[in-house]
Amino acid sequence: MVLVMRAFEEETHHLPVLLKETLTALAPQAGGRYLDGTLGLGGHCAAIAATASDSEICALDRDAQALAIAKDRLSAVGERVHFFQYRYSRFAEALAQLQWDRVDGALLDIGVSSLQIDNAARGFSFYGNGPLDMRMDRDSGAPSAWHWVNRESYARLKQCIATLGEDPQAGRIARFIVEARQKSPIETTEELAALVEAAYPHAWRVKARHHPATRTFQALRMAVNNELEELKMFLDQIFTYLSPGGRLVVITFHSLEDRFVKQAARHWAEGCRCPRHIPVCVCDHQPEARILYKKPVRAGHAEVAANPRASSAKLRAVEKLAGAGHL
Ligand SMILES: C[S@@+](CC[C@H](N)C(=O)[O-])C[C@H]1O[C@@H](n2cnc3c(N)ncnc32)[C@H](O)[C@@H]1O
Repeated sequence: MVLVMRAFEEETHHLPVLLKETLTALAPQAGGRYLDGTLGLGGHCAAIAATASDSEICALDRDAQALAIAKDRLSAVGERVHFFQYRYSRFAEALAQLQWDRVDGALLDIGVSSLQIDNAARGFSFYGNGPLDMRMDRDSGAPSAWHWVNRESYARLKQCIATLGEDPQAGRIARFIVEARQKSPIETTEELAALVEAAYPHAWRVKARHHPATRTFQALRMAVNNELEELKMFLDQIFTYLSPGGRLVVITFHSLEDRFVKQAARHWAEGCRCPRHIPVCVCDHQPEARILYKKPVRAGHAEVAANPRASSAKLRAVEKLAGAGHL
């Protein structure tokens, strides 16, 4: 496995986040069936295939470019990986096509890939100038970041930057955007980044640890790609598709996403569901899952030094208990 992954990393310059921890949590078994909802460049998928001989993986990504590269890079594992250009909220349709009614484990590694963020033409980053796009699936015809920046109301922009970007300057940033676009449309990532920087009060700009536009870009990307709704829809469905003993592993990079995963895990793992005011349990509900780690697993110093993006990654995992309901 180590050799396969080293070759993969050398070829792709791609470091899958929390790789060892993901394999420990997912514990893929020989001959098992797995779902990778965020294939990206295929790093985690390659490791699952290499760890679990004869396993099969249903691999999804909404980004056609990522999928094409991953397909090429995973050619060594041949027909064991089944590729779909699907959003992970639609995983059940992919499983139905494979005639799988359940999986032995599922993985999400949510967020953007280096392929997306490093390509200025995709508009995800303000390092390098590009159009305001940010769609992971450009062929979907969904509104791009340009639409958000140039067409959405002040109130919607402020709310987006405040909730998804968690930026205390959301109101000022939204106001600067709305005032600027009245003169002419905001077309590029550099224009937007400069505007956000100008909106930041001087004292805040001086003490900021990251570029002032970091949170605004994150918020717009999450809004454009409907990222929170995708995760909610996935969590609403996945548990019934897990085999008893099967594990769900989710890596998030945003506090709201981590909260959704934590809440879903608690819901599956809870016993009694009686209202608090009832002194003795009458529901007889039994826990359906076991939470593998009390606190989310984080990257160690060495990984963060090699891959700074890993610093905000949080991994949570649950195991479905034998006897819990399934399809
Ligand atoms: C962080 S990367 C995954 C990296 C991957 N685990 C690896 O080792 O190469 C996230 C990927 O998930 C994809 N993605 C994000 N949201 C998605 C969604 N809702 N449905 C399907 N793919 C999604 C992105 O296009 C991106 O390629």
